Amino acid sequence: MKIAAVILAAGEGKRMKSPLPKVLHRVCGETMLGAVIAAARRVRPEKIVVVAGKHLERIREAVGTQGISFALQAEPLGTGHAVMAALPDLAGFRGDLLVMNGDTPLVRPETLRSLLQTHRRKKNDLTVLSFMAENPEAYGRVVRDRTGQAAAIVEEKDADAEQKKIAEVNSGVYVFGAAALSLLEAIPVNPLTKEYYLTDLVSLAGQQGLRADACCMGEEAEFMGVNTRQELIRAEGLMRKSIIAGLIAKGVGFIDPGAVYIDQQVSVGADTLVYPNVCLEGSTTIGPGTVIYPNVRIRDSRLGKKVIIRDSTVVEGSEISDAAVVGPFAHIRPGSAVGREARIGNFVELKKTVVGRGSKASHLSYLGDANIGKGVNIGAGTITCNYDGVKKHLTVIEDGVFIGSDSQLVAPVRIGKGAYVGAGSTITKDVPREALAVSRVAQQHISGWAKKRKQKQNRGN
Ligand code: UD1
Ligand code: CA
Repeated sequence: MKIAAVILAAGEGKRMKSPLPKVLHRVCGETMLGAVIAAARRVRPEKIVVVAGKHLERIREAVGTQGISFALQAEPLGTGHAVMAALPDLAGFRGDLLVMNGDTPLVRPETLRSLLQTHRRKKNDLTVLSFMAENPEAYGRVVRDRTGQAAAIVEEKDADAEQKKIAEVNSGVYVFGAAALSLLEAIPVNPLTKEYYLTDLVSLAGQQGLRADACCMGEEAEFMGVNTRQELIRAEGLMRKSIIAGLIAKGVGFIDPGAVYIDQQVSVGADTLVYPNVCLEGSTTIGPGTVIYPNVRIRDSRLGKKVIIRDSTVVEGSEISDAAVVGPFAHIRPGSAVGREARIGNFVELKKTVVGRGSKASHLSYLGDANIGKGVNIGAGTITCNYDGVKKHLTVIEDGVFIGSDSQLVAPVRIGKGAYVGAGSTITKDVPREALAVSRVAQQHISGWAKKRKQKQNRGN
């Protein structure tokens, strides 16, 4: 049987009080819509249609277009109306339609799979995924008839006192067969909100003698819908716990897992130890046996095996190879690569800089647009002057070079293999291999100067 998926993302999300479309708010680094799309992909639908409203372009940009078509719901006239907007994109499709709200970011692919299986096994025309909610007010209640079959979904606003007591609620995930979909046109406008509710298909299907069912599959932790900032925070907390539990099961160590923030896409190798107040973000991958000390943020970066990232370090868009040591207080900016066993120490900033194997920049340096070879020693306070006010220029430091402390390397410039730069030099010309470059005023001694100064001062008094 074929499957297509429709994801509803055209609501205004007013309750978020934010200019950002609701479904683009992030939960553990991933947009809510992105998370729903990722879950939908895992059931291998032949088509995914995202229904978006006035923010369609922005949404398309944020979630990409691979395997997705976008349908416009020009006005947010309700979830039933939104599904209708997707139908032209599904012309010719015969199969089961999985419909999901774009604001339920915790839903797991395994759950979608078993929902589809249940729908087929029971030969339903319509199956609603329901769950038991601790606080059901935010959801549509599943009203069952005497035989136990789902007869209707009633929203809080429309519910009577008895219905409000029902704890089984609609998750906003559904499977529809063709017969159920043909009833979309018959959805009446809700007199209270003037919207067309997708949930009305449940009672309509019953009236037409179709099989509508609600399949209760778990708890709020997986199905919560995010409508407010509070709910977004809750969803983030729930997802965070499950990400960290997954990593612990794989052998990652945490001193205090409640104080660590790890995005959905991040992978961490076994036996890596993570201290508190660490943020691992974006598409970061971390090898095994690594230690990440407190107050570190790592974004979109690759760390190898047995790396040590010391306290208060930021690593962005860079690669840190096996057994390198970085920090404390280092800033590794995008496009950098720290080689095996290299050391980047305190108050060192790298930008678009490659540091070769075993090289060291241990203190107080800015190294930007630089290619640094193997076994290089960068003295404290070395600066690559990479910017002339208009353009950025490259500094090349070949293998085995020694740069004395407090030197400036004015790019473009090349320091040849095995050369030395004397401390305090300003290097503006290429340095040949094995040479010593010094460019500082020669030291002179004025004998007796201190004594003369004192005498002068005494006379002044
Ligand atoms: C909806 C369900 C409710 C269910 C809950 C689960 C209806 C009428 N109610 O309520 O039964 O328990 O989800 O979380 O469906 N959207 C559109 N176009 C619209 C309106 C909404 O695309 O015109 C999209 C929104 O972007 C959102 C989703 O549909 O992703 C759900 O809309 P929302 O307003 O959040 O519905 P709820 O009130 O949460
Ligand atoms: Ca919602």
